[in-house]
Amino acid sequence: MSTPPKVLVTSAGGKTGLQTTLQLREKGFPVRAFVRRRDHRSEILKRAGAEIFVGDQYSLGDMRAAMQGVQRAYQCAPTAPNGLYFNAVFTAAAYEARLEHVVTLSQWLSSANHPSLFTREVYLSDILIGMRKEMSVTTVNPGWFADNYLMVLDMAVQLGVFTMPLGAGNVKKNAAPSNEDIARVVTASLLDPGSHAGQTYRPTGPQLLSPDDIAQAMGRATGRRVRYIDISERMMIKSLRALPPSNYSVAAVTQLALYADEYRRGAFAVNAPTDHVERVGGQEPEPFESIVRRTVSYRPELTRSPVRSLGAMARFLKILAARPFDLRDAEKARDYVRPQTPVFSQDDPAWLASHHPEKPRVATVVAA
Ligand SMILES: NC(=O)c1ccc[n+]([C@@H]2O[C@H](COP(=O)([O-])OP(=O)(O)OC[C@H]3O[C@@H](n4cnc5c(N)ncnc54)[C@H](OP(=O)(O)O)[C@@H]3O)[C@@H](O)[C@H]2O)c1
Repeated sequence: MSTPPKVLVTSAGGKTGLQTTLQLREKGFPVRAFVRRRDHRSEILKRAGAEIFVGDQYSLGDMRAAMQGVQRAYQCAPTAPNGLYFNAVFTAAAYEARLEHVVTLSQWLSSANHPSLFTREVYLSDILIGMRKEMSVTTVNPGWFADNYLMVLDMAVQLGVFTMPLGAGNVKKNAAPSNEDIARVVTASLLDPGSHAGQTYRPTGPQLLSPDDIAQAMGRATGRRVRYIDISERMMIKSLRALPPSNYSVAAVTQLALYADEYRRGAFAVNAPTDHVERVGGQEPEPFESIVRRTVSYRPELTRSPVRSLGAMARFLKILAARPFDLRDAEKARDYVRPQTPVFSQDDPAWLASHHPEKPRVATVVAA
């Protein structure tokens, strides 16, 4: 029997990288997990049999070292500025190492003239990584992750409110995928390049939900009434800057504000939900309520109590007291490259064509 190819997973301590590493190990594939530091997450990966590589993903030297003896890779840029730099480092090292197949985490919104610099960088990265014909690529384009809602789950549990700037509460605007389901699509594509090379997948959850639906699902999963409150962009900036574990930079906040704008415009609802999790990942996508139930079950700090409710109230007051900043000034101060006429996804004919239900670039295969 031939030896299975070795897979490098970048951002292996992160949301999709960790799940991808665990799923690859379950399938018996040797994995090198690229992490920033040794901690409880690298311990989980090590226990699952992954080889731990500690390094800086922005260092070409580290990336070259991480790719030695590797044949395939999951490329996942951290949620941070400098995505194009990360992707250039990864692509250069992958070409040198003559990898046979890469699965790259792109973005639902990816388009050439998007107002978000991060998104335009992803679009360019996707072009660059596909330029060496000998290395096949599968592109995975998820939209707004279910995990994003979980960032405010403690407020929902303790105070009964789900606060995000998502617009009207009753409009169904997103079918959010779990980290595990995104990883299922990534893992299937890594295992079988023959079926998945050249494909683009858009993993989603099973159904479109409105912000009110999300609040109600949080309420059912946590045993209390949760009400959606549509907050302003200013309030979102304050909360992203004020609260741990958020360590979002000013640059990242400017981009997340644009993604919230796309959410309100309905971009994540275009041609959603898809059947890619089931068709490629091999099982039905997880409903949002079950994602919340699972999260609550392993995070005891989310249990409701008077002391924790007081803590949540204190965090809420900290948000109110935080100093906001002007998004446009922040972008100008950073001297971002700007398109002369930025175009949101749904106003871009090329983007619309790539999301058209009649043109799903999806292989008709089910993972082994
Ligand atoms: N969230 C969404 O809704 C969404 C939607 C579509 C696409 N995406 C894309 O998803 C990607 C992020 O994926 P994810 O959420 O799975 O990852 P993630 O949770 O953001 O994880 C990133 C990991 O990279 C590590 N890291 C950061 N800088 C590093 C460095 N210089 N060297 C080594 N490691 C470093 C982080 O370490 P520490 O944890 O130790 O800091 C973290 O473990 C982004 O490219 C984003 O554009 C996200």
